[in-house]
Amino acid sequence: MSTLHSERILILDFGSQYTQLIARRVRESRVYCELHPYDMTMAEISAFKPSGIILSGGPKSVYDSGAPPVEEALFELGVPILGICYGMQLLSQHFGGKVVPAGKREYGHAVLEAIGEPGDLFDGFFTEGTSSVWMSHGDHVEVVPVGFEVVARTTNAPVCAIQNPQRNLYGVQFHPEVNHTPQGELMLSTFVRKICRCSGQWTPGKIVDDAVARIREQVGTEQVILGLSGGVDSSVAAALIHRAIGDQLHCVFVDNGLLRLDEGDQVMATFAGNLGVKVTRVNAQRRFYDGLKGEVDPEKKRKIIGNLFVDIFEEQAGEVEDAQWLAQGTIYPDVIESAGAKTGKAHNIKSHHNVGGLPDYMKLKLLEPLRELFKDEVRAIGEELGLPKQMVWRHPFPGPGLGVRVLGEVKEEYCDILRRADAIYIDELYETGHYHKISQAFAVFLPVKSVGVMGDGRTYEYVIALRAVETKDFMTAGWYPMPYADLARISNRIINEVKGVNRVVYDISSKPPATIEWE
Ligand code: XMP
Repeated sequence: MSTLHSERILILDFGSQYTQLIARRVRESRVYCELHPYDMTMAEISAFKPSGIILSGGPKSVYDSGAPPVEEALFELGVPILGICYGMQLLSQHFGGKVVPAGKREYGHAVLEAIGEPGDLFDGFFTEGTSSVWMSHGDHVEVVPVGFEVVARTTNAPVCAIQNPQRNLYGVQFHPEVNHTPQGELMLSTFVRKICRCSGQWTPGKIVDDAVARIREQVGTEQVILGLSGGVDSSVAAALIHRAIGDQLHCVFVDNGLLRLDEGDQVMATFAGNLGVKVTRVNAQRRFYDGLKGEVDPEKKRKIIGNLFVDIFEEQAGEVEDAQWLAQGTIYPDVIESAGAKTGKAHNIKSHHNVGGLPDYMKLKLLEPLRELFKDEVRAIGEELGLPKQMVWRHPFPGPGLGVRVLGEVKEEYCDILRRADAIYIDELYETGHYHKISQAFAVFLPVKSVGVMGDGRTYEYVIALRAVETKDFMTAGWYPMPYADLARISNRIINEVKGVNRVVYDISSKPPATIEWE
């Protein structure tokens, strides 16, 4: 095992909605970590060789029957442990403490007060003895576990942080992983860097070196195919695999006619041109437009687009002699989400397919070099690999592309109008500096005609809707408060420059109840 992976934190998930955030915070401290379900066995935990363990929060009470238990032998491993919320309660219970329902459920901001000298974990955490924290719990520790001291309290939770520094065991009732706890990131970083003694080697340069070595080891002299979409994940996967095995990588880029303005040419310029990657471009626009003809149902449109992609990809893959591997840009949140789907935790509202469903008979081995990385890490190594900044930091773009942004039936004419309107919109967002404050922005084509007036005549033309949202996780989102002056300029430009459009509207709906896309 490489030295990179010899420093690793294990996070055990007891079902809190914030568990993924713990993992992100740990990675932001440049320390590798993995998130596993709470029922990981002791043998698996020992084999993982953690430098430290974090027990997450969870929705249950430790005294309930059916509450997720912890492997008690964990506490005898001798590695540092931090219990958060439910995790702290498990720790307390194990060491003879008592957990009871709180008199008052606590949710939201609270003022944490230090008791005495808080010690190493809390280095820099308190200012003049207090710190603002985020609480979300219905239970608290009433009787302090044996061997522990109380480090901090709030008005409603007299035992809000505990520690046994001799054994490196810590528990906090609040959530250090959320942004609402301003010093939380510092605390988690102190835990992994100082208490667990991880030196912070998980840097973009080292991630690339490590991934390159692993790809070479896995693939050997065999051939790999990859479906390039122009999106961040498949682009970074391609650049990384190319760095590792050069011409053994064969990319297929399917232009489905549902891409953004000039996107196909940009992808080819970056990969085939600058990086020297072998890319076959398939101009399949007509096949997609024909396949989508007459279809108005969004889910059916997604299926048609997905199936056509698979057909075309398969045809192209057949051209690559001896291909043994299929590479995909699967990233860590996809892995966690599908693990969650198995335990019934995650629910899919739309069929978010990426390039997943290749037929079994293709019998290719899967190469997923980004499987352990969060989006921020993928972007950081994309820059490290020399991909253009604009490609790396681009907003997410759905697999079915403009197919779900032209509402109802997809026609080439509609896609062309939408492409041009969208390009003006995004161009203005870059110019005004809004682009990087927004999580996702795009234009939508509405297939309705409304009346307008231009010069002396009446017009009867299409409507473009503009969407811009702010979100952390894309599960909930708020609409972006775009200044009126900027909206006015964007609207003027679109109406003046895009033939066929005489009306522009701005979407002011949040998710939920609306979704980010219109279909
Ligand atoms: P919604 O519209 O469900 O979108 O609020 C949440 C995020 O998912 C993206 N999205 C998709 N991505 N295939 C994809 O690869 C799809 O079919 C799809 N539908 C929505 C959307 O762009 C947003 O980022």
